[in-house]
Order: sequence, then C-alpha cells, then structure tokens
Amino acid sequence: MRLHVVEDYKEMSAKAANIVSSQIILKPNSVLGLATGSTPLGMYENLVEMHKRGSVDFSEVITFNLDEYLNLPLEHPQSYHHYMYNNFFDHINIASENINIPPANKENLEEVCLKYDRRIRKAGGIDLQVLGIGVNGHIGFNEPDHKLKTGTHVVDLAKETIEANSRFFATKKGVPRQAISMGMSSIMRAQKILLLASGEQKAQAIKKTISGKITTEVPASLLQLHTDVTIVVDEAAAKAI
Ligand code: GLP
Repeated sequence: MRLHVVEDYKEMSAKAANIVSSQIILKPNSVLGLATGSTPLGMYENLVEMHKRGSVDFSEVITFNLDEYLNLPLEHPQSYHHYMYNNFFDHINIASENINIPPANKENLEEVCLKYDRRIRKAGGIDLQVLGIGVNGHIGFNEPDHKLKTGTHVVDLAKETIEANSRFFATKKGVPRQAISMGMSSIMRAQKILLLASGEQKAQAIKKTISGKITTEVPASLLQLHTDVTIVVDEAAAKAI
C-alpha cells in the first residue's frame, strides 16, 4: 500500500484528481470504478476543471459506480444517479452509453446484479477503482459481516451507515435501509485502487485498513491483500496511524 498523507481535503482532492487524470492520459479508454459520498466530491470538481481546461478527455472512458440506494427514485437529490450526473457526468464529455450505475429500481434484482457483473467483465474489468470508506470500514456498501459477498448484491445497510448518511436526508427515517453494491470481487480485481479519506471520523477506519488484522468485519482491511493500492488521506484521517 502506498500511503500519502496530505494537509487537508483540498490537497486530497487535487491529488486524487491527478491520479485519475494520469490514468486516463496513459490509457484513454480506461475503465474507472467510481464512488459517491462527500469524500470524492472535490476530486470530481477538480476533474471537471481539468476537463474544461482541455487537459483530460473522457470520450473513451467507461465508468462503473460502486453502489446505489434501493427504493429511492433516480431523480431524488440523494440518489447516487443524481449525485453522479449533477457533480460529474453532466460536466464532462463522457458518452452516455459508457456510464454504468447499478439500476436499483428494477424488478428482478438478482438478474440486475448478475448483468452488472457481466458488463464489468465485458468491459475488461476495472483499471482504476476509486473508493471512499465508511466509519465502520465499509467500502462501496460492503458492510462489516462475518462473510462478504463476491458479486454485485443487495445489502441491508448497517446501523452506523444509516446514522452517518442521515446527514444528507431530512429525517433519519428517510434514509434508505437497503442498497445495491458491487461486491468485493470486482473491487479486488481492479488493476489499481485509490482509497480516499478525510476527517477525524475516518481515523480509526483508516488505521484498521492499513495495519489492522485482515477481517471481513472491516471490509477495507482486505485491501491489504491487493498489490496496487494508493491511499490518500488528510492529516485528520491519518491521526490514528
Ligand atoms: C457511503 C458510500 C460509500 C462511501 C462511504 C463514505 O455510504 N456507499 O461508497 O465511500 O459511505 O461516505 P462519505 O464520503 O460521505 O464519508
């Protein structure tokens, strides 16, 4: 694992955007795995700026998002569809057919999950997977458990996750209880992984990710088994290392 501790959120975002844009410059048809949440917002902002300046071209890039809430209309301001278009896709020259987000509002979710994994495989797998991290060490919506799922699956959100994500919703009751998430296998099979974290509330999760025992109870700790992980954290998130 390569660890970069930077001063603050602004530096983390700039560094993350540089890593993603370098990937695209080296391989214009890169397959990116993308994350949502408050952490990568600054990275997307920087990438949009870079695109406007003409320094990064997304025309051949293919993206797969990690997760989506269940039972939330796509146009809901907190859906990850809305987040991705609003903060990123609407501002870059990505082809709409190259955008993949788990379609959580479909009938046959089992088939939807299998289809999503097939699409990732057909695209050749993920070149660079961007990850945030939950306070409980979740990645995507792979929540701590005694066993983890390999493929894309429907997940019951952990209490801590509902609590943490309630800040985005008017009431805690309004937070979806379920989501669809890419499984550990697509994430671990990515060629490269970029994990981002900012703020003291992530300090314990980062410590466990980097030097804790490898356990499904801290899904991010499995990243210790991957051969090409870059972690960019700000000083607050690095506090417990
Ligand atoms: C969310 C998402 C994750 C994200 C994490 C941290 O629930 N499913 O993909 O990385 O929790 O979110 P934030 O960046 O807002 O702290």
